[in-house]
Amino acid sequence: MSVFPEGFLWGGAVAANQCEGAYLEDGKGLSVPDMLLGGDVNHPRTFLAVTDPEAFYPSHQAIDFYHHYKEDIRLFAEMGWKVFRLSINWSRIYPNGDDETPNEKGLQFYDNVFDECHKYGIEPLVTLCHYEIPWAVVTKYGGFSSRQTIDLFLKYCRTVFTRYKDKVKYWLTFNEINIACMGNGGLGDLYGLGIMDKDDINAKDPILLTELKKNPQRTFEALHNEFVASAKAVKLAHEIIPDVVVGNMICHITNYPLTPNPDDIMACYQEDDVKNNFCADVQVRGEYPSYIFRYFKEHGIDSSFITEEDKKVLKEGTVDLYTFSYYSSGCVTVNPDADLTAGNMTMGAKNPYLKESEWGWQIDPEGLRYTLNTVHDRYPDIPLMVVENGLGAVDQVESDGSIHDPYRIDYLKKHIQAMKEAMEDGVPVIGYTTWGPIDLVSAGTGQYAKRYGFIYVDRHDDGTGDFHRSRKDSFYWYKKVCESNGEDLGE
Ligand code: BG6
Repeated sequence: MSVFPEGFLWGGAVAANQCEGAYLEDGKGLSVPDMLLGGDVNHPRTFLAVTDPEAFYPSHQAIDFYHHYKEDIRLFAEMGWKVFRLSINWSRIYPNGDDETPNEKGLQFYDNVFDECHKYGIEPLVTLCHYEIPWAVVTKYGGFSSRQTIDLFLKYCRTVFTRYKDKVKYWLTFNEINIACMGNGGLGDLYGLGIMDKDDINAKDPILLTELKKNPQRTFEALHNEFVASAKAVKLAHEIIPDVVVGNMICHITNYPLTPNPDDIMACYQEDDVKNNFCADVQVRGEYPSYIFRYFKEHGIDSSFITEEDKKVLKEGTVDLYTFSYYSSGCVTVNPDADLTAGNMTMGAKNPYLKESEWGWQIDPEGLRYTLNTVHDRYPDIPLMVVENGLGAVDQVESDGSIHDPYRIDYLKKHIQAMKEAMEDGVPVIGYTTWGPIDLVSAGTGQYAKRYGFIYVDRHDDGTGDFHRSRKDSFYWYKKVCESNGEDLGE
């Protein structure tokens, strides 16, 4: 008998800012990614506060899902999907974050998208905020550094929960909430929390996100406000939508000690706690874990921002489902001279046993089995879902229009096999959505060239391309996987 239960949620995942485009259409306001320029593998995202008509902002057109959603969802259905993970762009609903009334045209767009999904029996899984804090909330309120932003977020949640209560059963609060803990400057601060320095906002020249000014006190205080917002959203969703399932979303940076040196083991353990476990502990268990207070003390962070009332809110708003992104793994060592490797949102020490993608992310399918097991051991009472997994690669279009991507098939197949093993180990996984099932804009570099899709989109980093879609070899492979409920993974 198959290890995948009937109704296992096979599908794909995207974010509004990376696929929709139409960045100011039908009343949408600016959001954080709209202020970011395109980059390349060596020069990840740069921020520019003034909209420069000469510059290239990839999210402004992205892959124009806004006008292609019917065609795209039809292709998803052709693959036999059961679920489509997407985000609602907050600034499409409340263009400035603090508007009196929601933007009806924005609401109508997502009604259309959800109706289109249901037409094919595809369940939407909606991320409320996938790095999409309205720009006005950053400039006027300082993002989540202000408690007022909690109320703005909840107003937005109430609007979408009420509007879509009969159409959307699965929700996630904040995408990769833990990137705030990775010490990567604006990647965590601006993307995740909508916070940045006044000087940086007013800078005339582009600034690398990683070089935006850091302030750990401000970061952890804003993260706390985001925890409170998330917990209140979970509670609200349960009040408005009776059979709702609400999850958190963790960027899982799977770490191994580089050597058996006990110092490496301990460094790895601590890094895991701060980067992977802290946010999930708060969101799943409903309270701050003890180890984080030592970290706060050692980093000069005053935790008096946690009030008694907040503690109650966190307890009442624990999530029903643990979800995470998994792309690669890294190592941890106390040796400052160890070679480094790139990865999602952070760097790690290089693992000599693993190969890397073209973007330098180490490929480690076994790490997915390991991660699923460790997460389940930690939170045995809730189900898990892999909501992002995939390989960013350069694809070649042949003269006959075909696109052969065996590397992508190989990557995904091995990861699905590893997930299967974890399920045989007893881990309750309810679904799997690949990242970027249709090519889209990279979050880390702003490139189109970093393609994840089963569906190719004719759009390039120099702004050329007519957005037409075509099926890659992996499209036909994933169709078999979905249609056979994970039984047929190919040769
Ligand atoms: C995750 C994000 O961090 O990884 C996505 O949730 C992102 O938004 C994905 O696109 C892959 O990263 P990148 O940098 O290759 O786009």
